[in-house]
Amino acid sequence: GPALRVALLGAGVVGSQVARLLTENGDEFAARIGAPLELVGVAVRRPARHPEVPAHLLTTDVAGLVARDDVDVVVEVIGGIDPTRELLLTALRRGASVVTANKALLAEHGPELYEAADAAGADLYFEAAVAGAIPLIRPLRESLAGDRITRVMGIVNGTTNFILSAMTADGVGYAEALAEATRLGFAEADPTADVDGFDAAAKAAILASIAFHTRVGASDVYREGIAEVSAADIRAARRIGCTIKLLAICERLTDDDGGEAVSARVHPVMLPDAHPLAGVDGAYNAVYVEAESAGRLMFYGPGAGGAPTASAVLGDLVAVGRNRLAGGRGPRESAAADLPARSMESV
Ligand code: HSE
Repeated sequence: GPALRVALLGAGVVGSQVARLLTENGDEFAARIGAPLELVGVAVRRPARHPEVPAHLLTTDVAGLVARDDVDVVVEVIGGIDPTRELLLTALRRGASVVTANKALLAEHGPELYEAADAAGADLYFEAAVAGAIPLIRPLRESLAGDRITRVMGIVNGTTNFILSAMTADGVGYAEALAEATRLGFAEADPTADVDGFDAAAKAAILASIAFHTRVGASDVYREGIAEVSAADIRAARRIGCTIKLLAICERLTDDDGGEAVSARVHPVMLPDAHPLAGVDGAYNAVYVEAESAGRLMFYGPGAGGAPTASAVLGDLVAVGRNRLAGGRGPRESAAADLPARSMESV
């Protein structure tokens, strides 16, 4: 078939891997999709910093790239809300499909993006936004679409899991473990979004929204980080056969009168050592899903990093490419039944 034309927004840790793999494995992608993928532009802030990307593809005009009417798919790995929200809305409104890794944007403005995608008949895929390489969004949206999910509970932030694992294994305090995470490049220069639970809360909002076919925003998620967890807390947990983990917990609730609601929260939890999530250490992520018919499922793997996250982005790109070639699209979201999101106080 005719080539699918792809614009890449961002060439950082993830974007540079996406560009590399797209170029190196172009023939395989063409075979899997049934049409070649053609990278037509890579928007970056400082072209001189990207010698790995062919110079003729680099542009600083991100708005111009997104507005090009010959672009079929926009892949966004720049992150942030502004101007990313406007850029993706522009792409969707003119019918381009969007693949994004942007958890904060989806958690804040998911419904607006889904509606724009639905109105234009375009795809919005975001496997990379939660738990990096781990297939999780598509299993929740598609494989389990014939089941009734009751709970999604997971370790969705690698930085905090690394810190808690180090505190548990080495008996060190929070500050020392954070310094080690920073030294090894797990924690970012400003680790606030990780250690205070904002990153996990954004992911919880996305997971709750798709698992329960409703709209949960970041502000609906109760949030507590790990800064208050002490070495003494960890020792106390160890003594009773428990491990402390920062969990994102999304549950379907049934009121006494049979009414349904959804609760989403992020906080440190004392997990019995026998629980499948208790042994997930280091920067890995894992998500435990309970569904009425399927029972209990566990998804486990690398939750961050350039190549693992690029794997999820490229999987989405192949799926979106196949959909476009078939003249169809993937799952829609806006037909969702709106279950109310309950705060912790009312649980
Ligand atoms: N800061 C995130 C983490 C990166 O530590 O898991 C992946 O979203």
